[in-house]
Amino acid sequence: MSKVRVGIVGSRFQADCIAGAVKAIPEEAELVAVASPTTGHAADFAKRHGIPNAYSDYHDLLRDPKVELISITAPNRLHAQVTIDAAKAGKHVVCEKPLCITLEEADAMIDACAKAGVLLLYAEELFFAPKYVKAKQMADEGAFGRVHLVKQGEKHSGPHSPWFWDVEQSGGGAVMDLGCHGIAFCWWFLGKPKVKSVYSHMATQVHGDRTQGEDEAITIIEFENGATGMVESSWNRPGGMDDCIEVFGDKGQTYADVLMGNALPTYSEVGFGYAVEKAATTKGWTYPVFEEHWNYGFPQEMRHFARCVRGKETPIADGETGRVVQEVLYAAYASAGQGRKVTLPFRPKGVKKPIDLWKHP
Ligand SMILES: NC(=O)c1ccc[n+]([C@@H]2O[C@H](COP(=O)([O-])OP(=O)(O)OC[C@H]3O[C@@H](n4cnc5c(N)ncnc54)[C@H](O)[C@@H]3O)[C@@H](O)[C@H]2O)c1
Repeated sequence: MSKVRVGIVGSRFQADCIAGAVKAIPEEAELVAVASPTTGHAADFAKRHGIPNAYSDYHDLLRDPKVELISITAPNRLHAQVTIDAAKAGKHVVCEKPLCITLEEADAMIDACAKAGVLLLYAEELFFAPKYVKAKQMADEGAFGRVHLVKQGEKHSGPHSPWFWDVEQSGGGAVMDLGCHGIAFCWWFLGKPKVKSVYSHMATQVHGDRTQGEDEAITIIEFENGATGMVESSWNRPGGMDDCIEVFGDKGQTYADVLMGNALPTYSEVGFGYAVEKAATTKGWTYPVFEEHWNYGFPQEMRHFARCVRGKETPIADGETGRVVQEVLYAAYASAGQGRKVTLPFRPKGVKKPIDLWKHP
């Protein structure tokens, strides 16, 4: 069957990951277009990745008949509108995390794609990260007995682009940005059980001069099957990206560290080109990663999504996944605002952005 023809909306950090991922699966997909509004960025990106068409307006990319599937790597506030426009244009959609800003947007995105008969795929790469997939395979095999606690933590020194720090554009701080991964992870790992309640403690510990968003949070999720998820999210950890899980059952446990656990413990007095995402230095002791995209699961994710477009596989991360995460994000912010557990279903209407539930409970 022919390769799935992918157009990327956005041309910076995550766009590079998606482009690298698509180029790593030439048997399933190819890059045919990119769109980005900043003058010259789309053209530079296209040149760097060998993409034939570059647009400054994503509507033009949506009119390109070659594009079958778009990958949205634009800021969070644009996810819903781009998805709805893409559905109307008959394009399948891969949307980056978090799915959107509000639950109403999540509903509208899911409806628009369903009506248009296109796929809405949710880019949660942790469902494809090889170490985490191995941990889940062992858990599903019964290696740990009944799993009662799953922890995921994602921590770094803070985002690279200004819009993440502006809650009007991002919807919230570290929980919107990083906690969405852990929420999805715990839910997926445990077999997608219903969420019963959410408790979250949030604080702005270090970056109060830059953002109204939380830069440090602990979120506890109670699932209907009795298991607990614990998600740690931080923008306050210098030294490079940290992404780890811990899984506990009555018959065993496992620990996985996606980045440092795969890295080469390295000492250099002079430094070198690149160690790991968000590491400020390569001098002294560092943990340079190799095959970074593969360890995260980006090529595996895009392979699965391309095969879903061709009807060879059924999506394991779709708009519904994103909506589950969105509801837990709402509950987490509301919990931090109210200082108590919030039970689900939790779908307050008319919320402008999740962080408002913390700041104005
Ligand atoms: N899955 C992951 O691990 C992961 C990692 C990083 C970012 N992300 C997500 O990807 C998205 C983008 O993040 P990023 O780090 O690449 O941000 P970024 O700031 O590095 O890049 C954003 C891109 O969007 C473009 N853009 C802005 N307005 C646009 C418009 N109207 N039309 C088309 N493009 C537009 C910008 O020009 C830029 O190229 C966010 O939703 C983020 O949460 C996911």
